[in-house]
Amino acid sequence: MLHKNDLILRAATGQPVSRIPVWLMRQAGRILPEYRAIRNRLSGFVELVRTPELAAEVTIQPVDILDVDAAIIFSDILVIPEAMGLPYQMVEKKGPYFPTTIKTMDQVKQLKVADPETDLHYVLDAIRLAKKELAGRVPLIGFAGAPWTVFAYMIEGSGSKTFSKARGMLYKEPELSHNLLEKITLSTIAYLKSQTQAGADLIQIFDSWAGILPKSHYLTFSLPYIQRICQAIENVPVTVFAKGAQFAMPEIGKTSCATIGLDWQMDIQYTRQLLGPEKTLQGNLDPCVLYASNQDIARCTRKMIDAFGTQRYIANLGHGVYPDTKVDAVKCFIETVKNYEL
Ligand code: CP3
Repeated sequence: MLHKNDLILRAATGQPVSRIPVWLMRQAGRILPEYRAIRNRLSGFVELVRTPELAAEVTIQPVDILDVDAAIIFSDILVIPEAMGLPYQMVEKKGPYFPTTIKTMDQVKQLKVADPETDLHYVLDAIRLAKKELAGRVPLIGFAGAPWTVFAYMIEGSGSKTFSKARGMLYKEPELSHNLLEKITLSTIAYLKSQTQAGADLIQIFDSWAGILPKSHYLTFSLPYIQRICQAIENVPVTVFAKGAQFAMPEIGKTSCATIGLDWQMDIQYTRQLLGPEKTLQGNLDPCVLYASNQDIARCTRKMIDAFGTQRYIANLGHGVYPDTKVDAVKCFIETVKNYEL
């Protein structure tokens, strides 16, 4: 489909842009009162994710309210374990919780490879609705968790500071670990292919827990599965966001992704040097900059762009926007990017 604003696709595929595209990870969510109003009408987060009309509506809110250059489908990375047979809950103010976690090979064998058309049809319906309502205004980003990050929640059962159960599993039961990662990967490939068929114009893989692995484990248990996903998605550009994985940048650069996301701790010029000119970079303002004055937000944003350059670049934060961020601060960030002269 032709887009009225295709800046993000141009940047991702290395075409020249007339201004820098900008969006925010976690833009569809709690920073917007309009989101909270819809969310409060429902029993909870999971119901919102499973109601395509409302998921599509909150997907488009940031395009209307913040004027970002892309929408990202409102969902969660944890719909994959659920589709494989391991359901999750979202506990208010605490985050995800899995009543059952994976401990044995028997459990891994009982999990199924997700069939997106049946198990995840609600996400695909939300994508189709969002595309229709966007009517080509901006591209729509589809996403999934990286297999390692999804694995971490399936073993741990919730968020954790150390993810020591999940990391421990890699040492204790490498075969079980690879079996589970394989099943997650097959599920994710099918899911992302369905997302692109439903209309997603770009795909982002979130490896939020990349940074807690030692390098050798990252190269064994995470990156090969990410590469398989990148290779399987042929028709749209793929972004890999591996938070905390500065240590594996040269290897991430060898995957077939179009864009690499940087977190706020990564050094911009050093990363560009490691990757060479062929990849598009995305990121990486510290989300905490948005707690500063507008003047400082603008100054930090311009300094970041000075380091990235204006081509082969998508402006974003270095991780998801924090829920207590003021909408005005977000707008200031977006305006500063848009007003940056090439
Ligand atoms: O980016 C967007 O705006 C689209 C929506 C989106 C959500 N989750 C909605 C959500 C995306 C892209 C995600 C991805 C996701 N989910 C990741 C990877 C990105 C990252 O932040 O590292 C991870 C690790 C998860 C798992 C998850 N979901 C956690 C740990 C939590 C609780 C903590 C938190 O950040 O809120 C969630 C809940 C969640 N996912 C909410 C939203 C809007 C908040 C719940 C609510 O609104 O009730």
